Amino acid sequence: MGVNNRPRVFVTRLIPEAGLRIILDHCEAEVWEAPLPPPREVLLEKVAGCDGILSLLTEQVNAELMDAAGAQLKVISNFAVGFNNIDVDEATRRRIRVGNTPGVLTEATADMAFALLISASRRIVEAQEYVRGGHWKTWEPLGHIGQDLVGKTLGIVGMGRIGHALARRCHGGWGMRILYVDKFRNQVAEEECHAQQVEWDTLLSESDFVSVHVDLNPETQGMFDRDAFAKMKSTAVFVNSARGPIHRQQDLYEALVGGEIFAAGLDVTDPEPVDFKDPLVQLPNCVIAPHIASGTVSSRNGMAEIAADNLLAGIQQQPLRCWVNPM
Ligand code: DGY
Repeated sequence: MGVNNRPRVFVTRLIPEAGLRIILDHCEAEVWEAPLPPPREVLLEKVAGCDGILSLLTEQVNAELMDAAGAQLKVISNFAVGFNNIDVDEATRRRIRVGNTPGVLTEATADMAFALLISASRRIVEAQEYVRGGHWKTWEPLGHIGQDLVGKTLGIVGMGRIGHALARRCHGGWGMRILYVDKFRNQVAEEECHAQQVEWDTLLSESDFVSVHVDLNPETQGMFDRDAFAKMKSTAVFVNSARGPIHRQQDLYEALVGGEIFAAGLDVTDPEPVDFKDPLVQLPNCVIAPHIASGTVSSRNGMAEIAADNLLAGIQQQPLRCWVNPM
């Protein structure tokens, strides 16, 4: 506890006012306001004595950080739906609650996946560079030819909330056939979008677009490797708006250069940020955004509110609004 018996918290970056206000009203909060994340040694100092930490996906929240915080740490509230940056088992062992922010970013993330899908398929970014570079001299019957979308097959890897939201767009708007792989069946998606759960190899070989919506864990890490890309159509477009390490970046580069797939649209890379000298960045058939899928006003406000609620509930040792480890 801090002064006036208010709980002490460290907020690792400025978050929208919608959540920050709640935290400042109830806690003795220190907020890291710099645009870049706190350096590790600074972070370890800042969390010392805190009852709660509001973290971002840029912070590794592991045993070292929990030790640095101390035994009074009760909650880690991640400002993200993904929580691969947190050692949840370690937190659970220490009876520290972990929260995330699902739901509020579903539609924004599905929109971004679709934006990447259509940009990569229709070569929008490459075309803009062409115009900006002063190369547009005439209308070209053979220029900038991309892939059609209507009636094609979309393969969704992970038919959870976001995968389902993308399926709805592509089935309802573009008449696409939807295939998916998932550990679980999603009967609502099957009914609404006529989605079919298929084997991994079937998804890869039959899909015109493959979009990733699984979380990053030891099973999904590197699942899009050389073998996976080799099984895809040469006209296929690969989209990843989940986590970068789910694809092997060098293998993706080789698949794009070698024409094993047509194009890729990435909102996530490995590492992040991607080195701007990475040859992948220069490829005309790879569209890369800097991890902005949840970047809309309502999504980020919603994330901030949930993260603040999670933080306060955890400090009071109450169940979190959106929990990762039930306690
Ligand atoms: C998440 O929430 O996990 C995104 O990657 C960032 O919004």
